[in-house]
Amino acid sequence: MSISKGLTEVLDASSWIRRMFEEGERLRAERGAENVFDFSLGNPILEPPARFREELRRLANDPAPGMHRYMPNAGYPETRAAIATYYARETGLSFAADDVLMTCGAAGGLNVVFKTILDPGDEVVVLSPYFVEYRFYVTNHGGRTVTVPTGPRFQLDAGRIAEAIGNRTKAVLVNSPNNPTGVVYPRADLAELGRVLVDASRRIGHPIFLVSDEPYRRIAYDGIEVPYLFDLYPDTILVTSHSKDLGLAGERIGMILASPRIPDRKTLVTGMIFANRTLGYVNAPALMQRIVARLQGESIDVAAYQAKRDRLLGALIEAGYDVVKPGGAFYLFPRSPIEDDVRFVRLLVEEGILVVPGRGFGTPGYFRISYAVADDVIERAIPGFRRGIERAK
Ligand SMILES: Cc1ncc(COP(=O)(O)O)c(C=O)c1O
Repeated sequence: MSISKGLTEVLDASSWIRRMFEEGERLRAERGAENVFDFSLGNPILEPPARFREELRRLANDPAPGMHRYMPNAGYPETRAAIATYYARETGLSFAADDVLMTCGAAGGLNVVFKTILDPGDEVVVLSPYFVEYRFYVTNHGGRTVTVPTGPRFQLDAGRIAEAIGNRTKAVLVNSPNNPTGVVYPRADLAELGRVLVDASRRIGHPIFLVSDEPYRRIAYDGIEVPYLFDLYPDTILVTSHSKDLGLAGERIGMILASPRIPDRKTLVTGMIFANRTLGYVNAPALMQRIVARLQGESIDVAAYQAKRDRLLGALIEAGYDVVKPGGAFYLFPRSPIEDDVRFVRLLVEEGILVVPGRGFGTPGYFRISYAVADDVIERAIPGFRRGIERAK
């Protein structure tokens, strides 16, 4: 079939998550669905809050004329204004509706950002382990990713990032709480990154954008602080969505916020609105825009995710796994008990457990568990995780 050579290569090399999904289908057919424990997908398990359904009913029962038509490509002015007001209150900065662009999820938002800021050959620094789609979001728009490993316990290493920055660096992309590690970056490390980027921008003669991908911001545990980056570095762009915090991944509703401190943000936002239109998104889903305008600050029951984390983390540590305690999101990223993460993942498959090898996130020697699953799946999988590490010894 005549699809592009580039895409053919990418399809072959890329998707461990897809491979695990296919493996899962095979196992389910073989053993029955109830005996397969699928921790491979980051698909939110918690239903949206009751207020979401109330708003949905309200719109269905009392439809505004024209509410299914096209709208401005940036989104409804009332939605942008409501979101600007929310973030102004959260951050103390003077966000205006014009600083907000409604998008098709964070994925759509990141594509819009990269389409807007990248020229062919420009570089985006990404930190490994990384959300695997980042590479494609950058190459989609002619950019190149430059990978910088995180430090011990997956914390960001501003010194290494400084070394990776060159004349073609256009952006540094960070994600906290992080997929796949669950790590939350502390304020002091982010402040250090801000200082590094100020110096580096001066050195290379153009501003580097700090793109902060934050779809897990509200899924944070034990009262940990998830710092905003706006006051730590001026050229900051926040990209987020309600896929996880409201459990709306299938509804594709997200947004971009350009910092009021970006000197020429009008040009940036104008570019992003054009990109949103011409990438074919046109605008973010209309119904969802009306609903999330009224749900800023709401979230699913975070305590339920925290309980899942605590149960599984405790069981894994007890079984002998080496795993960093995550501060947020719904992932664990344990070290593979044997060097070859793919071999270990196959061993877990024999126990009916599906996880994703670390090399799928640019970090071999680990594996990712998504615990966005039902509590009984965690309970019934724990003996298999135990046997897995025993058999690996
Ligand atoms: C780190 C990260 N960024 C972005 C996305 C994309 O999310 P959305 O559904 O908002 O497009 C995901 C989805 O899993 C993610 O984990």
